Amino acid sequence: MAAFKTLDDLGDVTGKVALVRVDLNLPMKDGSATDVTRVEAVKPTVLELADKGAKVLLLAHFGRPGGKRSSVLSTSFVQGDVEEVLGKEIMFIPELSGPVVDQSISILRNGDIGLLDNTRFWPGEEGNDPGFAQAIASHGDLYVNDAFSAAHRAHATTEGLAHHLPAFAGRAMERELNALDAALGNPEQPVAAVVGGAKVSTKLAVLENLVGKVQHLIIGGGMANTFLAARGVDVGKSLCEHDLTDTASKIMDEADHAGCTVHLPYDVVVAREFAPNPPSLRTCNVHEVAADEMILDIGPSATEALADVLKTCRTLVWNGPLGAFETEPFDAATMALARHVAALTQEGSLTSVAGGGDTVAALAQAGVTADVTYISTAGGAFLEWMEGKVLPGVAALAD
Ligand code: 3PG
Repeated sequence: MAAFKTLDDLGDVTGKVALVRVDLNLPMKDGSATDVTRVEAVKPTVLELADKGAKVLLLAHFGRPGGKRSSVLSTSFVQGDVEEVLGKEIMFIPELSGPVVDQSISILRNGDIGLLDNTRFWPGEEGNDPGFAQAIASHGDLYVNDAFSAAHRAHATTEGLAHHLPAFAGRAMERELNALDAALGNPEQPVAAVVGGAKVSTKLAVLENLVGKVQHLIIGGGMANTFLAARGVDVGKSLCEHDLTDTASKIMDEADHAGCTVHLPYDVVVAREFAPNPPSLRTCNVHEVAADEMILDIGPSATEALADVLKTCRTLVWNGPLGAFETEPFDAATMALARHVAALTQEGSLTSVAGGGDTVAALAQAGVTADVTYISTAGGAFLEWMEGKVLPGVAALAD
């Protein structure tokens, strides 16, 4: 991993203006956030800078307003949530640059925090316009990026600003990069990856990258059906991308060449209808799925076999559930594996890194959120990292 500066490299910031990119793209309901994990993630950085006497200006996008102001996507809507998590009042500033920002900075005392409006109200943000970045940079003395979950975007406030001001990774970014490096950059071997989810098509690049990096690739969720079909299994009415079976075969060949074992279930939980605890529920061998049945989870024998594989591994990267975990009893395999991963992590034999909305929800459902090594709050950025891509926001910090 390329070197980057952290808050340890700051020096004296008393009275300096720190422009801090955070991710406040929070899920909302009835005007307030339903999950403030992203605010909690950046709290240490924001408070550390404030405690050191900087004037902290928060930069964030909110939704996708497409380069123009939107009355429903102002970051002022999350001001209350941010204040509650930080335990401090903050000043909302309805601009990104210009005299209003100058005036607000002159009112802020050292250690105070301001929240600028939605960076995506201006086309220069997504266009990564250097003039736009320079106009924002002119208000600051330093730039801190603490928004890994937006680092896959080459936007003015996620990438451009790093070229105009001394740039530092915030504490959340630092933790995330170190955890990801321990998982795929420079991991302890053997490494296993669990990749699940509905469709192969959304995770092709991830699978192609992983076969060259991990010793065990565990495929779950609807996408396992496409791989089973590629091996000649009749998957009945299961979710399956039949047009991608050749691609699945190619990935399995590549894995073979790279010395990566692809694990597919050999027993599965099936039903004729997708509903909680349906009467037609049964567990069978993958070769016994009837024409009118759907595979909705992997079976108990396959789950046990995966647990045995993980016992031999030192590192795990997990993205995507093994079954339709939001509906009982199709959560069984995902819950069992989550608890097993948590136990191995707690014993100290496994470094476990998980990411993506469904995976985070599944770990929470299993009650093991605190027992895995690291959970990424990023969605798209985590996937792009699993694809092996260089994230522009991270690369700019390394520059
Ligand atoms: C996210 O919510 O994953 C990030 O904030 C990125 O948002 P975007 O997909 O709109 O760029």
